[in-house]
Amino acid sequence: MPLAPVLARAVRRLTEAGVASPRFDAEELAAFVLGVPRSRLLLAAGFDGTGAARFDELVAERARRVPLQHLTGVAGFRHLDLAVGPGVFVPRPETELLAGWAIERARETTAPVVVDLCSGSGAIALAVANECPAATVYGVEREELALAWARRNAETRRSAGDRPVTLVHGDAGAPDVLAELDGTVDVVVTNPPYVPDGSTVSPEVADHDPAAALWGGPDGLDVVRRLLVRAAALLRPGGVLGIEHADAQGESLPALVRRHPAFEDVTDERDLAGRPRYTTARRRKLAAGETDLRNES
Ligand SMILES: C[S@@+](CC[C@H](N)C(=O)[O-])C[C@H]1O[C@@H](n2cnc3c(N)ncnc32)[C@H](O)[C@@H]1O
Repeated sequence: MPLAPVLARAVRRLTEAGVASPRFDAEELAAFVLGVPRSRLLLAAGFDGTGAARFDELVAERARRVPLQHLTGVAGFRHLDLAVGPGVFVPRPETELLAGWAIERARETTAPVVVDLCSGSGAIALAVANECPAATVYGVEREELALAWARRNAETRRSAGDRPVTLVHGDAGAPDVLAELDGTVDVVVTNPPYVPDGSTVSPEVADHDPAAALWGGPDGLDVVRRLLVRAAALLRPGGVLGIEHADAQGESLPALVRRHPAFEDVTDERDLAGRPRYTTARRRKLAAGETDLRNES
């Protein structure tokens, strides 16, 4: 069965269903069924009867707004293919920027210690381990289902030769989680839940990303407030913090970090489209006579 008309039908169906990138998604699903990379799709012979039926089923699910990555079981993140599915947040391309920032900062130190708070699938932690082999990397995740996906991804990466990442089950804002690292960490990085309660999100997000990955209280910054205190304790003086945020938090989040006495050099970074994406800061060195700032909020 030639591919072009089947693909054209799928694109129409996904467009009608309100899918944001109908051609890309149809091509990804076709490539998935045919077992080829999307870039080789034009060279593929087309579907046999079984393949065509499978493709139809997947397109129908995508039209019901099941995320593409849940259908293929894979989300690409920087150089990694991560396993994802129900119970874990699908890592987003935007977060690759924050991960890249963490990797660059980690590479500035000989044997860096990096902590990824709110790890989800393990995307950021595993990308750091993959691209900065000198790093000792930790991830913290509270939700058991998400942690199971992270452990699976960590095992895949370990088998592929990356340095193992230590994944901890716990509340990333709790003072006893990774307390043994307090005052020693070079880079703390986090993509926390930051969507303001009551915001409108797409059906893919509302119905398939876990609620614990999304909602951050009335202004979206409730989890961040707790993580700031924890990051201040974890970081060594001069260590750095990077926090992803929503487009609308490009002023409120840096302002929050600036009000915390433990941080200085607070900057907000934009993506290529000019949208504010993540805030960075440096852990202050304590001046002589200053009390310890780590538990102040
Ligand atoms: C937006 S997702 C980000 C996941 C991953 N870092 C990424 O970028 O794809 C936020 C994650 O934080 C987890 N989470 C929420 N509150 C948490 C807490 N207090 N402690 C640890 N993890 C938490 C959620 O379960 C979810 O996996």
